[in-house]
Amino acid sequence: MDTTKGAAARGRTPLSIMVVVICALAFAGILFTEDLRALTGTPMLKLTVSCFKQGTAAAGSTVHVPAEKEEVADLEDDYKEEKAKFDPGRCRVTEGKWVFNSSGRPLYSDSSCPYLDKAVSCMKNGRPDGDHQKWEWQLDDCNLPRFDPAVALEKLRGKRLMFAGDSLQRGQWLSFVCMVEFLLPSHDKSMKRSRSLSIFTTKEYNASIAFYWAPFLVESNSDVPIIADANKRILRLDSISKHAKHWSGVDILVFNTYVWWMSGQKIKSLWGSFPGGEEGYEELDPAVAYRIGLRTWANWVDSTMHPNQTRVFFTTMSPTHMRSSDWYGKKGMGCHRETKPVMEKGHWGSGSDRRMMEVVASVVGRMRLPVAFLNITQLSEYRKDGHTSVYYKSQEREHSAEQKEVPRRHADCIHWCLPGVPDTWNRILFSYL
Ligand SMILES: *[C@@H]1O[C@H](CO)[C@@H](O)[C@H](O)[C@H]1NC(C)=O
Ligand SMILES: *[C@@H]1O[C@H](CO)[C@@H](O)[C@H](O)[C@H]1NC(C)=O
Ligand SMILES: *[C@@H]1O[C@H](CO)[C@@H](O)[C@H](O)[C@H]1NC(C)=O
Ligand SMILES: *[C@@H]1O[C@H](CO)[C@@H](O)[C@H](O)[C@H]1NC(C)=O
Repeated sequence: MDTTKGAAARGRTPLSIMVVVICALAFAGILFTEDLRALTGTPMLKLTVSCFKQGTAAAGSTVHVPAEKEEVADLEDDYKEEKAKFDPGRCRVTEGKWVFNSSGRPLYSDSSCPYLDKAVSCMKNGRPDGDHQKWEWQLDDCNLPRFDPAVALEKLRGKRLMFAGDSLQRGQWLSFVCMVEFLLPSHDKSMKRSRSLSIFTTKEYNASIAFYWAPFLVESNSDVPIIADANKRILRLDSISKHAKHWSGVDILVFNTYVWWMSGQKIKSLWGSFPGGEEGYEELDPAVAYRIGLRTWANWVDSTMHPNQTRVFFTTMSPTHMRSSDWYGKKGMGCHRETKPVMEKGHWGSGSDRRMMEVVASVVGRMRLPVAFLNITQLSEYRKDGHTSVYYKSQEREHSAEQKEVPRRHADCIHWCLPGVPDTWNRILFSYL
């Protein structure tokens, strides 16, 4: 561990200097204070890109851009090789930075993937820039493998993969399906969608990739149909079997639940399965209710699942970007018109509740069955540019239900464009499979 870190650090310093030298040469010593700051904060590739942009503007035709470009590309490769091979036990996926790759291309587009919901098809819905598709998550210490669709399908051969949770989890599911489906001929694949269970199947691989809708994981009166008024939602924090019976026999389960607990209201809960009656509920602080609900889920997993047969993942909270003051943005705009990630290392906005994260960590920490976290919170925190914003179309009620705090411009700063940030969540899942 220490040696790899040391190697990475050694590789970094001379490279930074060389990039600066190249920039300095190219622009005859024009270096802005911003670039100096970029040296420590922003991605290498971006620095070089901005170098060239300024170079063309400042020095005009006297700069031989192609030659320098080649050199920088080589350096970039060297830099990558300094990093350790990915090992899920050692590499921290939370520590890294977003690097802009102008030639980066997602594996699918919202026109090419037939299964994408309109709600997340930002480009189709008129998003003018596609930059949010070109940022790549680069780890500080290790090389995160790219999502390889053929390898992913091979890993799923004869298996059932299921995502269970809320609409953010549905986004992750759609992203996964879209990243593999184009490899399969149309006679070999099928998609069956319904309100609570949707299944993508491939015959050749004898595999399925499913999504199960259970926004609280535990039962509530707002599962199907959804109750838009958070005040009228009543949970059954100790009941889960209605949902969980659909999870039995699945080989790889990926759960999430967070944003539905954060309506700002107390959580109303009933105990036991009393048919019909919704009287006599108790009102609980969200963190308290979340802990009880997660324990119900954890107990079910521990008593039903076998580590030999099932792998269980938990996707940590997906950050929202409704308060532009979190990143000193324009007031009241939320994530609207954002086209770049936050570059400040360790940025953490008001949309992610650390208390809730601690609840998840402590409940899962006490489980018998090992549950792997897809800890996507920090990397997604940076991506204020990745949300569907005003580029969504939807008749789906949960959209408005999850969006209690709709900013003036009706920007959706909860859900993510696809292709986009959830592709990286799946890149992490892929590297763990
Ligand atoms: C940029 O993206 C392209 C296409 O996906 C890829 O081949 C290339 O390796 C990427 N560059 C870097 C520096 O990661
Ligand atoms: C398909 O996979 C299931 C497990 O998901 C297994 O029980 C079944 O035997 C497999 N069928 C074939 C034809 O391989
Ligand atoms: C689980 O796997 C271990 C080692 O492979 C084996 O000893 C054990 O019997 C298995 N348990 C079950 C319930 O399959
Ligand atoms: C996820 O990562 C963050 C740091 O980015 C950390 O604070 C948090 O405890 C992690 N969550 C879990 C459940 O491990």
